[in-house]
Amino acid sequence: NAQKRPKSSVPMAELHCHLEGTVSPVMAMRLGARHGIDLSDTIDANGQYSWKNFQEFLSAYDRMAAAICTPEDYYDITYDYYSKVAQSGVIYGESFVSPDHALQHGIAYRTLIDSVSAAMKDAERDFGIVCRIILIAVRHYGVEKAEKLADLAHKYPHPFVTGFGMGGDEQFLWPHDFSKAYAMASDAGLGLTAHAGEICGPERIRDTLESLKLSRIGHGVRAIEDDALMAELRDREIILEVCPGSNIALGVYPDLAAHPLRALVDNGLRVTLSSDDPPFFHTHMQQEYEQAQSVHGFKDADLLRFTRTAIEGAFCDADTKEKLL
Ligand code: HPA
Ligand code: ZN
Repeated sequence: NAQKRPKSSVPMAELHCHLEGTVSPVMAMRLGARHGIDLSDTIDANGQYSWKNFQEFLSAYDRMAAAICTPEDYYDITYDYYSKVAQSGVIYGESFVSPDHALQHGIAYRTLIDSVSAAMKDAERDFGIVCRIILIAVRHYGVEKAEKLADLAHKYPHPFVTGFGMGGDEQFLWPHDFSKAYAMASDAGLGLTAHAGEICGPERIRDTLESLKLSRIGHGVRAIEDDALMAELRDREIILEVCPGSNIALGVYPDLAAHPLRALVDNGLRVTLSSDDPPFFHTHMQQEYEQAQSVHGFKDADLLRFTRTAIEGAFCDADTKEKLL
């Protein structure tokens, strides 16, 4: 119900958030204790996730995700995150969910989707937030797993599973190696996005655009280095899932003032704001919106535009969008 939202803040919508990456260190320790998993090499003495670069981040992420062991754990982390962000003013959220991580604990695809979607429904009932699932393949797990995932989506359609994406190590293989997986996901009726131009440069964004037929790019911020590429993104009305806090934490830019958020908007690109893996990157949605205002000078109307763009680019059905807009 809407009245639980703080009235003064601009409503927010998040397109780019990794479900496993929303787990706070405190919650991770609780899950670790529940299942007898030692996370002392993952969470430091100050109670923060410890990693120093992208590769270390990905491996800390995998170790933390290994503490999410049961369908109940998936329910808990989903409800925990979406009930929290709903109360901070998020009205719509899409979550990257990684069935390959869950499968390491023997959690089958359909069980995973049932748990996550049940929590999303409960968060909607309790806090009014609307949430949907994007299946995410992990690049460095390989092409075959990505194709298997697309096949599962095809076999077992679910109203909350609305998109297909790809994350992990951006330097592993090339986007076009995954074109069959993307074609299969598209056949299954899913919206398409992929991480590109986060760590790697414009050449991988270009390959992503040419070979994956998607409507959104995860990050894509390094398109700023290539005017012709920006023109193409503009022409195709591609939506960028920009996560400034993540980019700073991973050292893509030294600080927010150096981040191209403002320049991307000024170049006419369709930009949205997300938190990616909030506790890993010491950020959250409200902070992203506030810093866009305080560091980049965006006004409330501009922040509202980020939200509207996110809803326009959302992978939920048209009726759901219309209610949100
Ligand atoms: N980038 C790429 N892959 C990921 C991320 C990220 O920020 N988080 C989880 N998987
Ligand atoms: Zn991401």
